Amino acid sequence: MANREIEATWKYHDGTKHSYWSIRNHPHFLDWATRPLAFKIYPKIEPLPLPRDIRQTGVAALSAISETVPSAGGDSMPDLQDLARILYFSGGITKQRAHPGGAVYFRAAACTGALYEIELYVVTGDLKGLDAGVYHFNPADVSLRLLRKGDFRRNLAQATAMEPAVVHAPATIICTGTYWRNAWKYQARAYRHFGWDNGTLLANMLAVSAASGLPAEIVLGFVDGEVNRLLDLDTRHEVSLCLVPIGRKSESSLPDLREAPALGLETVPLSEREIEYPAMLEMHDASSLESEEEVARWRGKQQLFPPSAPAGHALRFQRPLEEEQDTIEQVILRRGSTRAFDRTASITPDQLSTIFDYATRGLPADFLEPPGLQLSDLYLIVHSVQGLKAGAYFLRRERNTLEVLREGGFRGEAHHLGLEQELPADACVDIFFLADLKRILEGYGNRGYRAVQLEAGAIGGKMYLAAYAQRLGATGLTFFDDDVLNFFSPHAKGKNAIFLLAIGKPLKRKP
Ligand SMILES: Cc1cc2nc3c(=O)[nH]c(=O)nc-3n(C[C@H](O)[C@H](O)[C@H](O)COP(=O)(O)O)c2cc1C
Repeated sequence: MANREIEATWKYHDGTKHSYWSIRNHPHFLDWATRPLAFKIYPKIEPLPLPRDIRQTGVAALSAISETVPSAGGDSMPDLQDLARILYFSGGITKQRAHPGGAVYFRAAACTGALYEIELYVVTGDLKGLDAGVYHFNPADVSLRLLRKGDFRRNLAQATAMEPAVVHAPATIICTGTYWRNAWKYQARAYRHFGWDNGTLLANMLAVSAASGLPAEIVLGFVDGEVNRLLDLDTRHEVSLCLVPIGRKSESSLPDLREAPALGLETVPLSEREIEYPAMLEMHDASSLESEEEVARWRGKQQLFPPSAPAGHALRFQRPLEEEQDTIEQVILRRGSTRAFDRTASITPDQLSTIFDYATRGLPADFLEPPGLQLSDLYLIVHSVQGLKAGAYFLRRERNTLEVLREGGFRGEAHHLGLEQELPADACVDIFFLADLKRILEGYGNRGYRAVQLEAGAIGGKMYLAAYAQRLGATGLTFFDDDVLNFFSPHAKGKNAIFLLAIGKPLKRKP
């Protein structure tokens, strides 16, 4: 079973680290002639347009990102309006900008390089307004396209070893990753981006589902081959990453298993030629689950992460007051990654603790048991938070405290750690996600690598929304892996750098 052979993850992770020297010795130039299409297009399938005048939920953004609808309650059936809302506010186009290389259509969730390699599919039974089928969502024309007619939910449920949320879901969304669309710019590191970019999208998806009154959760345990086959994916190009069951019917109404023959559906090539990065295909294969038994065993594996030892003195955060007005839809439409932070600005401790409080209340996911478990630890470089000394900190979640690791002004260091960019130096605070990869791989096998990247992206995505709900700015960032570790050591010794998000106030440009 490849998933237990965890050297594969170390090979991929170590092989895709950024360092000051790797960036200089292996510069990568973008070949605009092979810039990939941002959309998956099935030229021979008629679109089924989704409704565009969708009812707003009216639910405040901070509530939406922090709450989940209990799956033990009564029935909650999504209709076509709900599905349209969830798909649009997770993967839809929210703004457009002219660019020398062609127009860029920005979407609801942040994505590395605005390359949008995550595709969305729906496997549904009959819903109000939509017949049972397997559909692909295309944000370009806000439409679904029917790939298979009929109810294939039992096929999907079986691939998850009868995971209860999938068994009881009237519809399940499947997120996939398309290698070339992101690797065009980021080469083999794109496999990490699958987790990050799928994660930010999931933050929106979970929030909008909750705001719609629908239970939703992340399912990472499934037989890869079965799900890929159901979606008719060409797995050298595109692979399934996670499932999100939406809604619940207490009486499971799964039909019989159906034949799902290969369809060989035609799609428009992303570009004239593509470069394949075997490191990513190997990482994906090594983290694939091969049978229902393996999925069931994988999910049953409970991991306990004892808290690490306290360091330095601690600052206790207050629980923030709820002073929110904007709805989740308004905040998603307003969100955009900050392109320049105001170095002279500061944020309040309440704003910072609001971000932590609402973004880290636990993700509903089949790999996070008991609920509230978090695979990554959060480390901070504070530049300008009122009442907090500038310095390096560790967030002790279970005590709601920040522990000082080192006081001092570290804007120069932050500039270096964030790949020599101005953004992490000018922000008010940089939040680094670090994880004990060794322990995670021991528990989850190579699939743990998918889990930790995805979790960080989803929490990072919630932080984006929590920042924009408070009219602050935020951006995801990439980083020099080992330098981040060294900066936070000895406290972070043995961990690995997973994700980085900067928060601050956007620079107001002169008119
Ligand atoms: C995980 C992650 C890492 C990112 N890294 C960088 C970065 O290193 N530098 C940068 O300028 N922007 C970075 N971005 C921002 C993206 O470029 C931005 O999300 C994308 O252009 C889409 O724009 P939007 O977020 O405004 O919708 C990152 C975004 C994410 C989600």
